[in-house]
Amino acid sequence: MSAAAVVLAAGKGTRMKSAVPKVLHPICGLPMIAHVVNNLREAGVERILVVVGQEGQEIQGLLGSEVEYVVQAEQLGTGHAVLQAEAVLQGCSGPVLVIHGDTPLYRPGTLRDLIEAHQSSKALATVLSVVVDDPTGYGRIIRDAADRFAKIVEQKDAGPEEALVKEINSGTYVFECEPLFEALHQISPENAQAEYYLTDVLEIIKEQAGKVEIFIHGDHEEALGINNRVQLAAAERILRDRIRERWMRAGVTMVDPATTYVDAEAELAPDVVLLPFTFIEGRTRVAAGSVIGPFSRVKDCVVGENVTISQATVLESSLDADSTVGPYSYIRPGCRLAEKAKVGGFCEIKNTTVGPGSKVPHLTYLGDTSIGSGVNIGAGTITCNYDGKKKHPTVIDDGAFVGSNCNLVAPVEIGAGAYVAAGSTVTNDVPPGALGVARSRQRNIPDWVQRWSSKTNAPEEG
Ligand code: UD1
Ligand code: CA
Repeated sequence: MSAAAVVLAAGKGTRMKSAVPKVLHPICGLPMIAHVVNNLREAGVERILVVVGQEGQEIQGLLGSEVEYVVQAEQLGTGHAVLQAEAVLQGCSGPVLVIHGDTPLYRPGTLRDLIEAHQSSKALATVLSVVVDDPTGYGRIIRDAADRFAKIVEQKDAGPEEALVKEINSGTYVFECEPLFEALHQISPENAQAEYYLTDVLEIIKEQAGKVEIFIHGDHEEALGINNRVQLAAAERILRDRIRERWMRAGVTMVDPATTYVDAEAELAPDVVLLPFTFIEGRTRVAAGSVIGPFSRVKDCVVGENVTISQATVLESSLDADSTVGPYSYIRPGCRLAEKAKVGGFCEIKNTTVGPGSKVPHLTYLGDTSIGSGVNIGAGTITCNYDGKKKHPTVIDDGAFVGSNCNLVAPVEIGAGAYVAAGSTVTNDVPPGALGVARSRQRNIPDWVQRWSSKTNAPEEG
C-alpha cells in the first residue's frame, strides 16, 4: 500500500486560548501532531504532507524533515487547505488520506482498516464516521433512501431534522488523488461560514457518479478532535489509560494505575514495578526488576535492571543495574550511577558520576564530580563547584573516604584510598592513601562555664 496523507494543521486553534499552536500542545509528553504523524507511519502511510499556516515554523521545527510541508497562507476552510497540497501531489496515484492535526487518538489499525476498506470497495472517496450522543459542532452524515452516503451537512448549515442526526463526520477520509483535486476546484464558499468545505467534495464526487463510501467506526473516542483545553485533558486521559493498559499487559506492575503516569515514548520492561504517584516521562527506558515510586518523577533516563528509586526526581541521567536513589533526592541532568551505586536521602547531584558500589548516603550536594568505585561520602558533604563565574570539577578516586560535613572546594582531587577528616574544607588535592585534615584543632577550656556564670548577672525576667 503506498498511501499519502495530508494533515490539516493550519487552523489557528483560537479556542485553546494559547500562544502555542494548538497541534503542539503535548499529550502524554508528545505534541499532538507528533501522535498523528506516528499513527500514520504505523498505519503504513509513506508520504506525509502537513498543511501549516504562515506561522508554521514551530511545527516545522518540531517535525523536521520527517514530513513535507505545504503553507496555507489564509485559512479559507478545510477544502482550501487540502487544495494547497495539489502541486506537491501532482500526478500521484494511490489513495490520499486526509486527517486533522488535532485528532491524535486514532489507533494505527483503524487508519489501516480505513485505507483497506476504501481500496477494496473501489470507492473514490471514503469518509470515517462515528455515532455520538451529542453531535453538536460536527458535520452530520446524511444518508440517502438506500442508506448510502448522500452528503455532509455542517452544524451551521443543518436544517432541524439534519441537526438530529448522530452519525457525524470525523474529518478523516481517504480519496483517490485525481477525483479529489478535480472536485476541490469545484467547491465554493456559499455556506453559513463562507468557507471552502472539504466535505462538499464528497457530494460532488457522488453527483458525478463516483462511488462514495462510509466507513463507520465503533469507537467514537478515537475520532475525538481537540479544540479546547477540556478536550485536551480528555484526550490525555484516554491515551494515558491506553498506555497503562499496554504496559500492564506487557508485564509491568502498577499498584495504583490511576496515579501512575507513563509518557507515550517511555519503554518499560516486564517486571518493572511502578508504585503510586509516579511519573515516567519523556524517553525514559526502564529495565526489568526495577521498582520506581512512590512519589517519583523520572524523565529522559536510562534505568538498568533492579534499580530502586523512591520518592525522588531523576532527570536526564542513567542509573545502572542495582543502583538505588532516595528517598527525597534530586538527580539532575548528566548523572550516572554505576552498578550498585547509592544516592540516599536528601541529596542533590548534578553532572556527576558515582562509580560502582560507591555510596552517597545522606544530605549531600555533588556537582561536576567524578567518583570512582567503592567510595564513601559522609553525610553533609558538599562540593563547592561554582566560584560565581565558572564551574569546576571534583575528582574522588577509587576507595576514597570523605568524612561527614566536608566542603570540597573545586577544582580538587581526592586520591585513591585517601581519607578526608570530617568537617574539613579541602582546597588542595589529597594524595592517594593520605589523610587530609583541613580544620582547626579542638581546644577545651577547663571550668569555663563556671567562670562565665559567676561573671554574668541573674537572667532577666520574661
Ligand atoms: C470539520 C468538518 C466537520 C467535521 C469536523 C470534525 C469541514 C467543513 N467540516 O469541521 O464536518 O465533523 O471537522 O472535527 O471540514 N484547517 C486548516 N485550514 C483551514 C481550516 C481548517 O488547516 O482553512 C484545519 C484545522 O487546523 C483543523 C482542521 O482543519 O485541524 C479542521 O478544521 P475545523 O475548523 O476545526 O473544522 P470543523 O469546523 O471542526
Ligand atoms: Ca475541529
